[in-house]
Amino acid sequence: MDTNFPPPPLPDRFEPFPPGIEPAVPIEGYPNTWTHTPAQPLIRRPVTRTEATGPLELWRKLPCDESNLAVLGPGRIAQGQLMHMSGRILDEDGRPVRGAVVELWQANAAGRYYHPIDQRDAPLDPDFVGNGRVRTDEEGRYAFFTIKPGAYPVPVKDTWWRPPHVHFSILGPSSLSRLVTQMYFPGDPMNEWDRILNSIPDPAARRRLIARQTHPAEVGDGWLGFTHDIVLRGRRATPEA
Ligand SMILES: [Fe+2]
Repeated sequence: MDTNFPPPPLPDRFEPFPPGIEPAVPIEGYPNTWTHTPAQPLIRRPVTRTEATGPLELWRKLPCDESNLAVLGPGRIAQGQLMHMSGRILDEDGRPVRGAVVELWQANAAGRYYHPIDQRDAPLDPDFVGNGRVRTDEEGRYAFFTIKPGAYPVPVKDTWWRPPHVHFSILGPSSLSRLVTQMYFPGDPMNEWDRILNSIPDPAARRRLIARQTHPAEVGDGWLGFTHDIVLRGRRATPEA
């Protein structure tokens, strides 16, 4: 007699993120936690093939030609340290995610966003808006020309500072697959104090939010170079932030 029949039930879902890589909320000293984080547990709903695969070719709906944030036009160069930012979007097995829509937004060199909500007393740069959107190529690669952002204080009662960082949103392979995350710069002492980065419990997961600086000789005259790969899920997943 086959004692393994009926077979044990299979798990009803794939766990895309191992424990310890999602931010632990609420984040102490960050009242905006609840405007940036769901207050209730996520409701899981079955994802059919239609939802997992479509709509395809997102770039046809979202213009993906904004890769140069640093040079608006002749003579209009953003203030700050010019920076080339590149990397790959990968799945849980290290395969490239082709045609993903990668959006980047960031503060200017003085740590101020070009956005009506940011009314801090720091200069705006008329030659820097700080938003870009590209799509990944056949190898899952993305790239932006931008500037290294400045740090900025969080406007709360006991002020703390956000270290220089870049925000990313990745849409792909379908419009229901979206990761919103942040990238930090290697060697910045403020990384140790950032409440958002340190809300991620697993130290290895925190390190996956820190870019790698490339040697200036590899980048080209006048540009700092950083590379940052983003893994959408699995053991090496890039945390949300
Ligand atoms: Fe920010």
